[in-house]
Amino acid sequence: MQSYFIEFANFMLRWLHVIAAIAWIGESIYFVMLDNGLKSPKDENCRKKGVFGEMWAVHGGGFYHNQKYATSPEKLPEDLHWSFWKAYTTWLSGFALFIILYMVNPGFYLVNPNSNWEWAANMTGWQANVLALVFLLLGWVVYNEMCKRISPNMERDGLLSIGVAIMMVVVAYLSTQMFSGRAAFLLTGAVMATAMSANVFFWIIPGQRRMVKAMKAGETPNPLDGKRGKQRSVHNTYFTLPVVLLMISNHYSFAYSHAHAWVIMALLIFAGALIRQYFVLMHAGKIQPSYPAAGVLLIMVAFWIGMPSSQQANSSAETAPDIAEVQTVIEQRCVACHAQAPSHPGFSAPPAGIAYDSLDQMLRNKDGIQQVVASGYMPLGNMTNMTDEERALIQAWAE
Ligand code: HEC
Repeated sequence: MQSYFIEFANFMLRWLHVIAAIAWIGESIYFVMLDNGLKSPKDENCRKKGVFGEMWAVHGGGFYHNQKYATSPEKLPEDLHWSFWKAYTTWLSGFALFIILYMVNPGFYLVNPNSNWEWAANMTGWQANVLALVFLLLGWVVYNEMCKRISPNMERDGLLSIGVAIMMVVVAYLSTQMFSGRAAFLLTGAVMATAMSANVFFWIIPGQRRMVKAMKAGETPNPLDGKRGKQRSVHNTYFTLPVVLLMISNHYSFAYSHAHAWVIMALLIFAGALIRQYFVLMHAGKIQPSYPAAGVLLIMVAFWIGMPSSQQANSSAETAPDIAEVQTVIEQRCVACHAQAPSHPGFSAPPAGIAYDSLDQMLRNKDGIQQVVASGYMPLGNMTNMTDEERALIQAWAE
C-alpha cells in the first residue's frame, strides 16, 4: 500500500511539475523574445509618453500591441500582472518529487557504491540525504555570492557568466563523485533550477516591488533593481535548456553511468546554453548559426564519449556463455526486484514494469539488460552484490 501510494503521488506530482515548468519556461522564453524583439514606436505620442519599444503580434485570432516603458509610465495601473507562481510551483513540486523519489530510499537512489571517494561510497542513507540538501543550498549560496561579488553593479556580466560556467563544471564533477549517476544529473539540474527560482524569489520580485513602491510614492526607482532583475532573468534564460535536459536524463544510463559522466553532463549543459543563445539573438533579428553549430558539435563529442564500446573494452569472454549460467545470475541478482511479485520489501510490483520470472521474459529484454548491466546502473545501488565476472558474463551473452 505504501509503495502504491508513493507511486501514485509520484505520478501526480510529476504531472504538476511538468505543467508548471512548461508554463514558467514558456513565459520566460516569451518575455525574452518580447524584450529582444521590441522596435522603437512609430507613433510620436507613444514616444512622448515614455514608450521605448513596442511589438505588434497576431495570435489566436487577435492582434496584440505590447509596449515597454523605458522608465516608469506616468501612471501605474493597479492590476499589474506579476509572474512568480509558476516559478514557485515548479520548484516546490520538483522538490517534493525529489523527496519521494530519492530521499525516501536514499540507499538505492542517492548513494554511489562505486564512487572513487571512499567516504561517499560508504555513506548511510541519511548522510546522503543531508549531503544532497547541503549540495543544493551551497549551489545557490555560491552562485549568488559570485553574482554579488563579480558583477555587483551589473557591469561585469561577461566575466560573471564565465564564472557561472566554471561553477557548473565543478558542480557536475562533484555531483558525479558524491552521488549515484542518476541523482548526480538530477541534482546538477536542481542546482540550476534552484538558482532560477531563488533569483525570482530573492531578487527579481523584491526588486520589482521596490520599483513599484517608489513609483507610487512619486520617486525615481533605483535603476540597480531593474538592472539586477534583468541580469538574473538573463541567467535564467540560459539555464532553461540545460535544466530540462538534466531533468529528463533519468532513463539514459549510457550518459549518467559513464565513467566520465561529468564531462558528458558539462558538454550537454554548454550545448543547451549555446542553442539558447541562438534564439536570444534571433529574436533581436541577428541570425548566428555558429552558436547552434557549436552546440551540436558539443553534443556530437558527448555522443562519441558515451559510445558503449569505449567503456566495455574489458568484457572479454572468448566462448559464448551457457544460457543456464546467465539465467542463474539474473535470478540471483535481479529477480528479487524484477519479478511479478517481488520479494524485495521496497516493491509491490515489478520496477519499471520489468519482470524476469521466465527465460522468455529475459530474452525479450536482452538489450535492456545488456545496457543497464554494462553501465553499472543495475542492480540498483548494487544491492544484490553483482560481481564484475557476472557483468562480463552478461556482456558476452548479449554480444
Ligand atoms: C534493488 C532492486 C533492483 C534490482 C536488484 C535490480 N533492479 Fe532493475 N530496476 C529497479 C528499479 C527501481 C527500476 C526503475 C528505476 C527507474 O525509475 O529508472 C529498475 C529499472 C530497470 C530497467 C529499466 C531501466 C530504464 O532506464 O528504464 C532495467 C532494464 C533493469 N532495471 C534491469 C535490471 C537487471 C538486468 C538487474 C539485474 C542485473 C536489475 N535490474 C536489478 C530495481 C532493481
